[in-house]
Amino acid sequence: MGNRCYFALVVAMFLGTAAYTAAQNDNPLAGDAKAAKAGEYEFRINCALCHGLGARGGGRGPDLTRAVKKHTHSDAEMFQVISNGIPGTAMPANGTNGQGVGMTDEEIWQIITYIRSQEVRAPSTPLGVAAHGKDLFFGDANCSLCHMVEGKGGRFGPELTGVGASRTREAIVDSVRNPSRQLAWGLTEATKEFPQEYESVTVVTADGKEIKGATLNEDSFSVQIMDTNEKIHLLDKSTLRSFHKSRQSAMPKYDADMLSDKDLEDIVAFLVSVGAK
Ligand code: HEC
Ligand code: HEC
Repeated sequence: MGNRCYFALVVAMFLGTAAYTAAQNDNPLAGDAKAAKAGEYEFRINCALCHGLGARGGGRGPDLTRAVKKHTHSDAEMFQVISNGIPGTAMPANGTNGQGVGMTDEEIWQIITYIRSQEVRAPSTPLGVAAHGKDLFFGDANCSLCHMVEGKGGRFGPELTGVGASRTREAIVDSVRNPSRQLAWGLTEATKEFPQEYESVTVVTADGKEIKGATLNEDSFSVQIMDTNEKIHLLDKSTLRSFHKSRQSAMPKYDADMLSDKDLEDIVAFLVSVGAK
C-alpha cells in the first residue's frame, strides 16, 4: 500500500516534469533572421491563402500579427496547432488537403519564427461599441433571425460565436455588405477536398413541393438542405423534379441605408468581443 502510494507519487512527479518541459519547448530557431525568411516563403505557399499576405489576415483566417492570440500563446502551442490543426474549424492539420504538402518540423519552426517577426505589440483597440452592437444584432438589424451567437438566435445561417476570432474585421464587414462575394463555409469534412459552401438552392420534389434554402451537404447522389424555416431535408437527387443551385447568398445585402457604417462597426465589435472569450 505504502509502496503503491510512493509509485503513484513518482509517476505524478515524472508526468509533472514532462509537461513542464513540453511547455518550455521553445523554438530552436527563435529570432533567427534566415529562418524567418525561409518561414515567410513557406507561409506564402501554405498559409497565405487563408491568413493573408504578411499574416495580416485574409478572408478565411485570422490576423496572426496580433500579439495576443486565441489558441496559441507559447511557441510549443503554436507548433501543436500548425501540426494538428484546430478541430471543428477551418484550420487544417499539416499535410492535409487545406494546407498543401506536409512540412517538416524544421519548416514549422521557421514559420513560427516568421509569424513572431510579424507580430505587432500594440493591442488592437475596438473601433465600435460592442454593447450597442449586441442590441442591434439581436434587435433592429435582425441578424439573430438567421444567426446564433452563444446559443441564442436562428440556425438558418452559420453560427457566428467564433467568427470574430476566426476572420478579420474587414472580412466580416464584407460578408455583410456583399454576402454573395464569398460564401461562408459550412461543413468541413476530412473526406472532402473542399468544404461545403452555403449555396442557395431551390428544389421541386417528386410530389411538386418547392423547397428553398441553403445547402448543408451534398454528394453525387444526395443533398442536405436547410430550408428558410430551419427544417433540414435530406433528399435523393434522382427523385427530384428540379434542382437549382445559385451562388447568390440567401443573406440579404445590407447596404449603408439599411445599416450605417457606424452601426456595422458596433456589430463587428460585438462579434470580436464574443470571439475573444
Ligand atoms: C483553409 C484555411 C487555413 C489555412 C490553409 C491555414 N489556416 Fe491557420 N487558421 C485558420 C482559421 C479559420 C483559424 C481560426 C480557428 C478559430 O479560432 O476558429 C486558424 C488559426 C490559426 C492559428 C491560431 C491563431 C490564434 O489566435 O491562436 C495559427 C497559429 C495558425 N492558424 C497558423 C497557420 C499556419 C502557420 C498555416 C500554414 C502552415 C495555416 N494556419 C494555414 C485557417 C487556415
Ligand atoms: C435571412 C437570413 C440572414 C440574415 C437576416 C443575416 N444573415 Fe448573415 N448569413 C446568412 C446566410 C445564409 C449566410 C451564409 C451564406 C453567405 O456566406 O452569405 C450568412 C453569412 C454571414 C457571415 C459569414 C459567416 C462566415 O462564417 O463566413 C457573416 C459574418 C454574417 N452572415 C453576418 C450577419 C450579420 C452581422 C447580420 C445582421 C446585420 C446578418 N448576417 C443577417 C443569413 C442571414
